[in-house]
Amino acid sequence: LTLSVASSPENASSPLLYGLFFEDIYHSGDGGMYGELIRNRAFQGTQDGNGQTGSPSLTPTTRYWSAVGSGVSFNIDSSTPKLSSALASHMKVSVPRGATGQVGFCNDGYYGFSVDSTKRYIADFYFRGTYTGNMTTYFQSTLNGQRFSAVNTSISQTSAQGWKQYYTDVFNPSSSAPNANNTLCFSFDGSKLAGQSIYVNLISAFKQTFNNRANGLREDLAMALSDMNQAYLRLPGGNNLEGNAPPYFLNWTQTVGPLENRPGFPGTWGSTQTNGLGLVELMQWAEDMNLDVVLGVWGGLYLNGATITQADLSPYVQLALDEMEFLTGDTSTKFGALRAQHGRSAPFKVPYVEIGNEDFLNNGYNSYVNYRFNAFYQALSPRYPNVNYISTVEWTPPSGVAVDLHPYGNESYFKSLFNAFDHKPRSIPLFVAEYAVTNSGNNTGQTGAQTFGMALAEAIFLLGCERNSDVVKGTSYGALIKSYDEAPDTVAVIKQTADEVLLTMSYYVQKLFSTYYGKDGALSVAASGGGFDPYYWAASKSGSRTILKVVSYGGSKSSVAVVVNGSKATGATLVRMSAPSSTRINNLKSRGGESSSITTLQLNSAGGQAGTFSLPFAAGYELAI
Ligand code: AHR
Repeated sequence: LTLSVASSPENASSPLLYGLFFEDIYHSGDGGMYGELIRNRAFQGTQDGNGQTGSPSLTPTTRYWSAVGSGVSFNIDSSTPKLSSALASHMKVSVPRGATGQVGFCNDGYYGFSVDSTKRYIADFYFRGTYTGNMTTYFQSTLNGQRFSAVNTSISQTSAQGWKQYYTDVFNPSSSAPNANNTLCFSFDGSKLAGQSIYVNLISAFKQTFNNRANGLREDLAMALSDMNQAYLRLPGGNNLEGNAPPYFLNWTQTVGPLENRPGFPGTWGSTQTNGLGLVELMQWAEDMNLDVVLGVWGGLYLNGATITQADLSPYVQLALDEMEFLTGDTSTKFGALRAQHGRSAPFKVPYVEIGNEDFLNNGYNSYVNYRFNAFYQALSPRYPNVNYISTVEWTPPSGVAVDLHPYGNESYFKSLFNAFDHKPRSIPLFVAEYAVTNSGNNTGQTGAQTFGMALAEAIFLLGCERNSDVVKGTSYGALIKSYDEAPDTVAVIKQTADEVLLTMSYYVQKLFSTYYGKDGALSVAASGGGFDPYYWAASKSGSRTILKVVSYGGSKSSVAVVVNGSKATGATLVRMSAPSSTRINNLKSRGGESSSITTLQLNSAGGQAGTFSLPFAAGYELAI
């Protein structure tokens, strides 16, 4: 097989082609990207289910908390004064008469805690009651009781003072724990509390965050994402934007300002959302990683099919207008001033707005194309004419509006999508703001971990997008992150435990695809000696660099000749992603580690002919760039 790459671009390349899609799904936000370590920190109610469970409700409980000291008991209390109307329930901690020693409470965390002596930690909480003395904060192993640190915080308060907030000093654990089987405990002098009750709420702890932001992102996860060199962040969902059923959807107004004013909501994917990772935090994430924002605004459809009628839609359209003003308005505007009041004066940039998410679901299509899309579009576009708008259903939208497609399916289906965009009309820009190979071969349903073969099928699909990136403006995988410990076991780019990060095969494909991508145009490639399958390719230009990506999906050739037309290049860099077999997966270090590998090799042009290189394939499955 000889591939001859043209020297000048055939199609424009979208600068946005490779991006990230974030929604809180299976603890990708709370317990994932959001740096908060404490689970059920403000008794907002627990909801546990395997996603999309129908009618939502939140019942506050003391789940994930356990007692320090014999006879210490907890219950949910909502006596006045409350911490806030949003956080109206708190935990009452009752200490028995005659108590001595330490009394208090420990939190389970999100499947434990990472205890790392090289990192800084801080905790804070609200307290109501009468106590003068120290509060001790420490991590403790649930396996053998070992304590990893202790920091004392002085409390001096009477119940008449109502709620007061206390911060621990910043501390480093005294040593690192060997695993995540740890709790985080807060204890008091029992003899001073004997026979009394105290009240606590919004009990929070953070390990040092990405870019050291307060209320920020989990550092190791954020660094892994930042390393992917992506171009955009689509936020905040996903089905999680829509909510399962009235009255709950992801209402941005409840996700901004002091944490005390964020009530949380029953997330679509089965776990309570604290809303701590709110709109501003997500925008800050995008800014810190230099990502363009694709903002999803709620479009009037709940996942159970409940739809806002045309007559009742205007308050929700206003909500979207207010959201845009909050994010992009200067401080002379009502909502721009609110943003500044919440600590962020400079407007954010919002170049892309998507109206809804999969609003065709549950009979949503007709209301979306008949009145919902237009109500939002006609209100937003005159006010924000420079924004690019995206429809979440496939139809013929107003001129210039893009359509977002969400293909999910098995490995064979994705291979078949390689040329899906070759003949799409160029008049409607496309986003593939969600995609994933969800099972191997022709298997239906979801598997828990992507094999190398599945990731290569995604790569073949992405080659098709790259070849057509004049019309395909962006691609992003769903789901981006999910908890390794949380059922159901589904695919994700990254999976996390409390103290480890698993970079899947798909992670590496996406990282390589965006790192080696020419934004100066797609180059045509002429092939002799074979067509597509089992080899697939796409080429692009970046300044004077020519970038060619080739996937071997079960190929038998040991080499592919590459001719870079018109180039006087005598050297090229070959980056190869390979794995021992197409069925191998990557796993956590503690559970087998990664089986894929990336290697880099310098190639010289063969036989003195400038610009001709040989790609040395191992027969089988491989990605070569
Ligand atoms: O990525 C998971 C889900 O898949 C998203 O929430 C939804 O938009 C899609 O159906």
